[in-house]
Amino acid sequence: MTRAAITAVGHFLPEDRLTNHDLEQMVDTNDEWIRTRTGIRERRILWDKDKATSYMATEAAREVLRKRGISGEEIDAIIVATVTPDMLFPATACLVQHAIGASHAWGFDLSAACSGFLFALSTGARFIESGKHEKVLVIGADKMSSIVDFSDRSTCILFGDGAGAVLLEPNTDGYGLIDSIERTDGAHWDLLCMRGGGSLHPPSYETVDRRMHFIHQEGRQVFKYAVEGMAGVAAEIMERNELVGDDVRYLVPHQANQRIISATARRMGIGMDKVMMNIERYGNTTAATIPLCLHDWERDLRRGDNLVLAAFGGGFTWGAAYLRWAYDGAAVAETAASTATHEAS
Ligand code: UT7
Repeated sequence: MTRAAITAVGHFLPEDRLTNHDLEQMVDTNDEWIRTRTGIRERRILWDKDKATSYMATEAAREVLRKRGISGEEIDAIIVATVTPDMLFPATACLVQHAIGASHAWGFDLSAACSGFLFALSTGARFIESGKHEKVLVIGADKMSSIVDFSDRSTCILFGDGAGAVLLEPNTDGYGLIDSIERTDGAHWDLLCMRGGGSLHPPSYETVDRRMHFIHQEGRQVFKYAVEGMAGVAAEIMERNELVGDDVRYLVPHQANQRIISATARRMGIGMDKVMMNIERYGNTTAATIPLCLHDWERDLRRGDNLVLAAFGGGFTWGAAYLRWAYDGAAVAETAASTATHEAS
């Protein structure tokens, strides 16, 4: 049986940090409230107005190619999960394709908010499992600062910018994506959305005046659905694959709120030592959170580790994936670090 395995991970994070103390100067908030309610201390922001999501996605993709030792020409398909594409069209994937010289690849964007990477991963896996493709780049990238209202304290403290990318390749030794669950329910679309800029409310002076080009979130209500959705689907994927807490090496959760993440871990019966959590440093980077976790923890991952990925986001969209990790991360991370040192000298 052919499964789709992740064979390399890349990332990009802007250098500029926006701390809770910086935000105290901008809106009526405080570090303690943000830390206790969300777990966030700082986030990265791509202030450069000439650089957007495709720039970050391209950098993440380049790291994947470098680590795997392949050129863009070998890529068959590129899927970019994002809610902050450079433009409504063409797709961000087209810009990435050109930038990395993926002359044989086709690509498209996938819009599923915070579940975007998870949905893109299962979509990309189908191309591998079917035998149609050998190398699929799956990227989660969002320049959330481009749609954050920095005068709205209920949302501006939550989000950050970043990108993560993985390469999917066929594996016949039992490693890779074992199972996934994907869910969508549009009944509550208006609890987390950006109303302006689409075909319903095209940009106009009125949409700008009414601040419709910014994220709108009813936080408390979304929180309730997110806990139920993310924890529920993580437990479901464990149950149907007959996994117990001890079988799971890591939960790789979407990073929206540390309280949602803890609730998910509790429901799965695992301790927080088995949870990838970097929300403290990056905030919620929407489609990038899960691959950024994989990147940060790559060094600790061993072939055969069982990972449960879980996400919940606007739409609503939510889902989980069960992955059996395919390579020893420490070796790859060390090679990548020495290559980077070599290139820099
Ligand atoms: O990633 C996609 C899915 N999104 C999520 O999963 C996000 C889910 N929601 C959440 O994570 C949480 O609801 C938030 C972190 C957004 C908010 O936390 P909360 O505990 O639900 O707070 P709240 O919205 O119920 O607000 C509590 C109080 C309010 O004051 P009153 O009405 O009790 O006097 C807010 O006005 O906190 C106030 N507040 C703030 N205070 C200081 C709201 N934002 C802030 C702030 N600083 N930044």
